[in-house]
Amino acid sequence: MKDTLLKIRDEALTALGVSDADLEALRIKYLGKKGELTAVLRGMGKLSAEERPVVGQLANEVRETIEKEIARRSEALKNAALEARLQAERADVTVPGTAVPVGHVHPIAKVQREMEDIFIGMGYDIVEGPEVEYDYYNFQALNIPPEHPARDTQDTFYITENILLRSQTSPVQVRTMEKRRPPIRIISPGRVYRSDAVDASHSPLFHQMEGLVVDKGVTMGNLKGTLEMFARRMFGENTRVRFRPHHFPFTEPSAEVDVSCFVCGGKGCRLCKGEGWIEILGAGMVHPNVLRNCDIDPDEYSGFAFGMGIERVALLKYHVDDMRLLYENDVRFLGQF
Ligand code: PHE
Repeated sequence: MKDTLLKIRDEALTALGVSDADLEALRIKYLGKKGELTAVLRGMGKLSAEERPVVGQLANEVRETIEKEIARRSEALKNAALEARLQAERADVTVPGTAVPVGHVHPIAKVQREMEDIFIGMGYDIVEGPEVEYDYYNFQALNIPPEHPARDTQDTFYITENILLRSQTSPVQVRTMEKRRPPIRIISPGRVYRSDAVDASHSPLFHQMEGLVVDKGVTMGNLKGTLEMFARRMFGENTRVRFRPHHFPFTEPSAEVDVSCFVCGGKGCRLCKGEGWIEILGAGMVHPNVLRNCDIDPDEYSGFAFGMGIERVALLKYHVDDMRLLYENDVRFLGQF
């Protein structure tokens, strides 16, 4: 019986040593319920009392040896499989990755944010208003009654007789003054619309930024100081500001405001067309009628307002001479800013 046990052990070890051994099948063959070792153990009843423990011990040793060898082989096969996978799936982490194109802020938005930051720094709130607007807010409350000639220069798109796409951001002045009491200090950036044909300096959709300050004792001097500060931050410390008399229905007095050319410093160059000055915005003291329309007493309060085109500032700042380039979405162009 001892010989049988040793023979089983040796056979099993040989079988397990074969490189593609089926471990589970061999386990069943030798150690399973119907396996060879079990068959030997079953015959132990026939042994004498002295032999039984000796053979039993040997049987246990053989079982253990085979079990250990199966475990060892199983571990080795697993490691070999892992090693093979690691080799097969080897990745060179030093190979440069595939670049993903990342977008960036559009030059109009960039300039708008820059302008907003300047005014936020001076204590202004940003207020937005609807682009689809009532005739009342876009015109009438701003001292532009029906038939007023100012409507011709700001012809826009009508949804109904009384509802239109706003032609300026000035209606936000009125909406703000209706809701808030002075002191008011706001800017209002956003899209505006006019029924203009597209050319190098016109578009039916463009962007403006309006400013409004209303308080006791606000003067034209405050307006000038504010715009000077803005111009220096936006175009450079040496920029000067010039006011020319003008007319807007919703401000009185009104002015068109120029900045000294930030390319030539005022000597005259291609950008300023030899003028030395560049017009950038309209401004003035809020007309008493506009204050009255918003239930603010013009004898107690005064205010100033200004409005400018964001595209215009962007074109000047980036020395681009055709507005259409800003809208054509050619990333080769837009990527430069
Ligand atoms: N809304 C005017 C325009 O679009 C600009 C402006 C705003 C002028 C505020 C004066 C005061 O032409």
